[in-house]
Amino acid sequence: MIEVTFWPQGRKVKVSRGTNLLIAAQQAGLPMTVRCGGKAACLMCKVDIHPDYGEAGMSARTEQERFKLGADSGQRLGCQARVLGPCHAILPEDPLKAAVRRRLELQAEEDDDSWLRSFRSDSPGGK
Ligand code: FES
Repeated sequence: MIEVTFWPQGRKVKVSRGTNLLIAAQQAGLPMTVRCGGKAACLMCKVDIHPDYGEAGMSARTEQERFKLGADSGQRLGCQARVLGPCHAILPEDPLKAAVRRRLELQAEEDDDSWLRSFRSDSPGGK
């Protein structure tokens, strides 16, 4: 069994040699929502290459990955990258969580601005 670590959670899972990262993530309790069932078509299984570990422990890029992502894109398709040794991958943020986070960040910026505007209008000579 080979250990795979998924970031940013730091979740570790041991999988059999040859398991792809999509299945490994699922076994780690970090399932990715995909549409093509692992046929390198939907691109919803993209994982980022960890800057400290690179692609160590992963199989070579398939022709489909090179065609869809480029030869050195900094990403792999989870359904194509197979575990050959201990490896690390960064999972993307869930799209729904990312949308909520962006909305909350915008709201916080607007709240900051409204606070600043009210402060300015309350101050003597404020506008
Ligand atoms: S699961 Fe669709 S591209 Fe990997």
